[in-house]
Amino acid sequence: MCGIVGYIGRRQAAPLILDSLKKLEYRGYDSFGIATLGSHIEIDKHKGRISEYAGGIRLNGTIGIGHTRWATHGVPNDVNAHPHMDCNNRIAIVHNGIIENYAELKKELAAKGHIFRSETDTEVVVHLIEEQYAKTPDLLSAVRGALPRLKGSYALLVIASGADCLIAARKESPLVLGIGDKEYFAASDMTPVLEYTERAIFLEDGDIACLTGNGVDIYQDARPVSRPVELIDWSPEEVRKGGFAHYMLKEIYEQPQAFFNTIQAVDKSSLPEFVCQSSSVTVVACGSSYHAGLIFKYLLEESCGVPARVDFASEFRYFLPPVDGLVIGITQSGETADTLTALRQARVHNCRTLAITNVLGSSVSRVADATLFMRAGPEISVAATKSFVAQLAVLMQIIDARSEGRYEEILLHAHEAIEEVLLMDLSAAVEQCRSAESIFYIGRGPFYPVALEGALKMKEISYIHAEGYAAGELKHGPFALLSPETPVIAICMPGETYGVMVSNIKEIKARGAPVIAVGSDGDQELPDIIDRFIPLPKTHPFVQVLTSLVVLQILAYQTAVALERDIDKPRNLAKSVTVE
Ligand code: F6R
Repeated sequence: MCGIVGYIGRRQAAPLILDSLKKLEYRGYDSFGIATLGSHIEIDKHKGRISEYAGGIRLNGTIGIGHTRWATHGVPNDVNAHPHMDCNNRIAIVHNGIIENYAELKKELAAKGHIFRSETDTEVVVHLIEEQYAKTPDLLSAVRGALPRLKGSYALLVIASGADCLIAARKESPLVLGIGDKEYFAASDMTPVLEYTERAIFLEDGDIACLTGNGVDIYQDARPVSRPVELIDWSPEEVRKGGFAHYMLKEIYEQPQAFFNTIQAVDKSSLPEFVCQSSSVTVVACGSSYHAGLIFKYLLEESCGVPARVDFASEFRYFLPPVDGLVIGITQSGETADTLTALRQARVHNCRTLAITNVLGSSVSRVADATLFMRAGPEISVAATKSFVAQLAVLMQIIDARSEGRYEEILLHAHEAIEEVLLMDLSAAVEQCRSAESIFYIGRGPFYPVALEGALKMKEISYIHAEGYAAGELKHGPFALLSPETPVIAICMPGETYGVMVSNIKEIKARGAPVIAVGSDGDQELPDIIDRFIPLPKTHPFVQVLTSLVVLQILAYQTAVALERDIDKPRNLAKSVTVE
């Protein structure tokens, strides 16, 4: 799970690639490197982040490749950083993915005399290409000859001395080509390329592309193929911070728009029949997307009486699969390996599959029978915010379609309530949280997954231990951890769950833990029994799910700011998890 970029054209490649890699750092940021091709290959690579690297990169050449890494095989250091080179420093490659059979290939190649410098799986690929390049002067043929030996996933970029081209190949890892005016780009996604062109070609699995200064040729099984050029309407401005201190804050503020745009974009009248009529639904997803699936389950069952099952995509294979039903894969990036695998398995069991994603051309749309795109725009911060709210917009539209438009008016105006909570003063709650050892989040019904998501946001960006619980579960063990240093955040909205939530809150207070309650404005009872009250606008339960989520995102954000955390790039994480 890394970011890769390649360029061929008239400009000096190194500065352009360095700048592009900064925009892909959300995919991995423990080391980076660039190789360029002028009269020969020059290479520079470093441990650490690009933004923290004080030295300059002085490499010559108008062809180049670059990489920003999230380590899987081998610790982050200068040697394991990409690009990797062959024995004679004639070929350089960057790779995103995992080569599963690298150990046996490494043994075989080492026995033939190849010198390995790094601990990475990637390095075997460049030595395999080296073997082929010794037999043919054509780099494209050499790469084509090497790839069948690889098991696993890859997006690869290759350059070589004596070859006036850049070779790109993909299998199960994302790779998009940018088509400029006599200049061409290859990258893990379009965010870095939008600066130069909005015209994109999404490579298919098994495609190998040869980019020269005059154009792009794409092959599948050695046969030329043509792939459509698509226009990407994300503006470069959208991928800039635009005056906000962090991308996460910008993206939190973009949520009303993201929700509204997505509601408008999902045309309920043209949803596939199997989405609207299936008598059972299974959702597969990871992380925040899994929480969106759980919220959907509660709302769908309550509104439409349709049973829904929600599985972690990574666990789906260990359960009895649903047969015949609808399986929805939710993934903002469209590249999460576990979600892709789960959808493939669902198809084996004759399920109809629907993907919900934010990224046009992403792998999930190739795996599922149908895809619904959210309109969140590019999300750069590692923590999901606006993509999460946009996922809910798609899911709520499905519920609305299945309920004959019962929620249409509510959904069309939901963004107004989200806007209202953006400016709330949470400083007292932040003060309580920033010194906490642990924080519990509790809720019932659809507010239970809201609690899970609030806790996930808090732990991933503030590094405070935080757990979401179904409110009724806290007394079955976690009560032992309650103390004045473990605040409990209770989402307590009017409705069916209110009375029992209040009882749960009283039980917690009786054990000495401070309670911050997220409730409905005008509540007469709650403020008297808790420590801090966060009042949200009185609205429909669907909208309260959204507003409570957003307020918990802001609480996590402000706590992380108070603790001076690295908000957009939390330690050890990356935005798109392309390994199982
Ligand atoms: C948390 C977060 C992750 C992702 C998860 C799935 O803020 O962003 O938990 O939700 O990695 O990613 P996608 O939705 O791309 O499949």
